[in-house]
Amino acid sequence: MNNFEFKNPTKIIFGKDSIDKIKNEIPEDAKVLLLYGGGSIKKNGIYDQVKTALSKVNIVEFGGIPANPEYSVLMDALKVIKDEKITYLLAVGGGSVIDGTKFLSAAALYDGDTPWNILKNNIATKEGMPFGTVLTLPATGSEMNSGAVITRKETQEKLAMGGPGLFPVFSILDPQVIASIPERQLANGITDAFTHVLEQYMTYPIGASLQDRFAESILQTLIEVAPKVIKDPTDYKATADFMWSCTMALNGLIQKGVPGDWAVHAIGHELTALFGIDHARTLAVIAPSHYKYNFEAKKEKLAQYGERVWNITEGSTDDKAYTAIEKTVDFFHGLGIDTKLSDYTKDYKGTAEKISKRFTERGWLGLGEHQSLSPDKVEEIVKMAY
Ligand code: NZQ
Ligand code: ZN
Repeated sequence: MNNFEFKNPTKIIFGKDSIDKIKNEIPEDAKVLLLYGGGSIKKNGIYDQVKTALSKVNIVEFGGIPANPEYSVLMDALKVIKDEKITYLLAVGGGSVIDGTKFLSAAALYDGDTPWNILKNNIATKEGMPFGTVLTLPATGSEMNSGAVITRKETQEKLAMGGPGLFPVFSILDPQVIASIPERQLANGITDAFTHVLEQYMTYPIGASLQDRFAESILQTLIEVAPKVIKDPTDYKATADFMWSCTMALNGLIQKGVPGDWAVHAIGHELTALFGIDHARTLAVIAPSHYKYNFEAKKEKLAQYGERVWNITEGSTDDKAYTAIEKTVDFFHGLGIDTKLSDYTKDYKGTAEKISKRFTERGWLGLGEHQSLSPDKVEEIVKMAY
């Protein structure tokens, strides 16, 4: 196992009817900016629950943060923060609203030139404006990590940011919010969380047995609850497991002491930036080709995953590893998620070259757990995913 340090300061408040508990978490003298997305919270009652809980708090609102949170919209919110002298942020939404809020938390205290530089120059935020979250969509793990991904339509970019100052102070996780999530977003959430685990697991054996088993148990739980959650998103037992699995998949715990890959996400983000494909679906497009292309380097973990998660008992290491990739593709298909770029766009030709050029320009010359995936290899992987 590699050496590691682990600190995750986010307080999790989990369970039925827990939204009311935000009133215990936000300082009474705070001036709060309540941030939300396209309005789902007004239809499903979450907005009313938040407003009732915070009836004694001074609140300003900013709605309209789109999926794949857009820089120009967030700059409007930043103006509100400055004009209204906001002291505390509250994100009520999925990964997009929470990530947008993290950007604002950093930008509010940033004294550099343009806040875009936080993303462009990958500036780690040591201190941000404090914020809490009410999670409405299990998927990204953003509710308990310090990362965010921001999109800029103007330049077709989607860049990541983060830093120790960007953990939520608290996050409310009430699985009852899942009842109103459309099937497409449920499938996305399962696929995203599943791939988060794969990114931290599908590398090479490092002797971290506990992390491996944490990872495998999250994958097994997601496989078990996926059909139940899709069939009945009011099934509390299944949705509670789903929600906590998504959080555990990306709150730092399973990444500690082990190598991480994250190439699937790096490439996937480009597909969202170029074509607007849902984040999770880009991962399902890239992951199978990535694992096939890097088969030799990853086959031991692929076979272990095949044995322990998919109960594959027959064949050699190579056979098990290959079948494990097929099982993963079948799992995505079972959720209604397509796994080829051409399923999403007719304009896929030239995408591989475009992405490899962007990575070269950014100096991303070696992705993956061995830092060995050069832009020309990325190009091959994307072509395999057409
Ligand atoms: O905008 P509203 O109207 O709220 O509707 C949203 C949105 O259209 C809807 N929704 C959310 N909760 C709902 C609901 N509809 C009904 N009932 C509810 N309870 O779902 C749609 C998608 O929401 P979004 O927040 O975009 O989805 P998700 O949570 O999948 O977030 C995706 C974003 O997170 C980034 C992605 O790149 C993408 O930009 N990621 C963030 C990560 C992180 N911070 O750690 C890691 C991930 O890998 C990912 O990159
Ligand atoms: Zn993801």
